[in-house]
Amino acid sequence: MPQITFNVNNNPVSIDAENDDELLYLLRDRLGITGPKYGCGVGVCGACTIFKDGELVRPCIVPMEEVEGASLTTIEGLAVDDILHPVQEAWINEDVAQCGFCQAGQILTAVKLLESNPNPNDRDIDEAMSDNICRCGTYHRIRKAIKHAAA
Ligand code: FES
Repeated sequence: MPQITFNVNNNPVSIDAENDDELLYLLRDRLGITGPKYGCGVGVCGACTIFKDGELVRPCIVPMEEVEGASLTTIEGLAVDDILHPVQEAWINEDVAQCGFCQAGQILTAVKLLESNPNPNDRDIDEAMSDNICRCGTYHRIRKAIKHAAA
């Protein structure tokens, strides 16, 4: 079994894994990083969303062979020195979460949106967030929190 070396939340990791193992299972089951959630398992719900080399990916469909040398950030790594990211603060202030299952993916997707568009309008937000499913229907609060973080 090949040894795969990468970085998660600024921590180096070296782990035995098959090339076609999915990254989400390694994160959750072997590394105990459970912020990324298993929703659909086929890359359509967004519950597992993380950053890989600064880009949003869905680790339920990322094979380990694509992880060698990568730098990953999950929701656990978004706060720096225990200071929450402004998007996390906005999420708390707007009381966004209901069941919470999808929220890590929602927050990371919102962070990416604000990196590329610091002042998004409703349409920008809806477009950027449309592939992250929330079964509780918290979309209106997600929109408010993104505007709050952008302000
Ligand atoms: Fe990965 Fe749904 S669990 S996108």
